[in-house]
Amino acid sequence: MKFTITLLPGDGIGPEVVGEATRVLDVIANKYDHTFNFQERLMGGCSIDKFGTSLTDETLADCQASDAVLLGAVGGPKWDDPNAKDRPERGLLALRKGLGVFANLRPVKVHPALVDSSPLKPEKLKDVDILVIRELTGGLYFGQPKMRERRDGKQYAVDTLEYYDYEIQRIIELAFDLAKSRKKKVTSVDKANVLESSRLWRQIASNVGTANPGIQLEHTLVDTASMRLITSPASFDVVVTENMFGDILTDEASVLAGSMGMLPSASLGEPAVPANEAGVIGLYEPIHGSAPDIAGKGIANPIGTILSCALMLRYSLKLEFEAQAIENAVDAVVASGAKTADLGGTLTTRQMADEIIERL
Ligand code: IPM
Ligand code: MG
Repeated sequence: MKFTITLLPGDGIGPEVVGEATRVLDVIANKYDHTFNFQERLMGGCSIDKFGTSLTDETLADCQASDAVLLGAVGGPKWDDPNAKDRPERGLLALRKGLGVFANLRPVKVHPALVDSSPLKPEKLKDVDILVIRELTGGLYFGQPKMRERRDGKQYAVDTLEYYDYEIQRIIELAFDLAKSRKKKVTSVDKANVLESSRLWRQIASNVGTANPGIQLEHTLVDTASMRLITSPASFDVVVTENMFGDILTDEASVLAGSMGMLPSASLGEPAVPANEAGVIGLYEPIHGSAPDIAGKGIANPIGTILSCALMLRYSLKLEFEAQAIENAVDAVVASGAKTADLGGTLTTRQMADEIIERL
């Protein structure tokens, strides 16, 4: 089969990890007789430098017209000026919105070989297998008004946490759908004791729960959830939550896996997985950032990006067998004790990818 994949390596370590991930995809293409046409574009700080904007209309259109998008990372100190009119992160948010990818899937698993890389006690990490579903195109990131101005001689800034019912409904339904093939438990995370948008969220989650009696639903406040992620992470199965809550909780959850460098993500649009056969447009990215401190050194962990490619094969290209081939190869490599610097090892980005390719 033939696919067009847009590559957005971005900034910092982005180009390094995307470079290795495309080598893995090339091996898959050869072995299983597919054609992946890669088209590389600029997004983030690199796009600001070249075009004066973090995401051009042309790049967005190219992404929309492709079968899937693979992103490295965006941002860095060079573009951190709080008064700048554009920022690398704005490009990423505009891309998510422009692709309509409202559902951000962030699976968190702890490989037994990495238990010692996590600061938690090994017994806490047993059976941890969480799928965080972060709402990605609404909530506090996108609500209006969102601005800064002078008011009565003072500086004033506002962000807005807003949701329409349908935005909550579709993400909660997706959580229930995905829970069916897992441990059949959904934890809906909100702040319903304080926020009106959370009270709507909770009400809709309850309604979807009533319509799905085979799935256990629990509501948890976000502050409690952040504590439970550390005290009893194995008590979660599917977690579904608002955009910014999900951003924060997934950084926290990544600590369980030993390193942020391990974790992939898939951002999906409608029609949501897993019902459709045709494949859904998706944006795939590791959950880590651009890591400017180690950029250019060739030591970043490419696993989060390589596992994101597996998710791309699964959800957008509908190549489940090939997706599992990548996941199995990564599992085997991690089990063998192979580690990059973030995990306390010495392998370079290239060497880690080579190890994975060898097992494909
Ligand atoms: C993430 C990142 C982004 C986000 C930033 C880079 C805008 O932290 O994907 O988790 O906040 O969504
Ligand atoms: Mg984040």
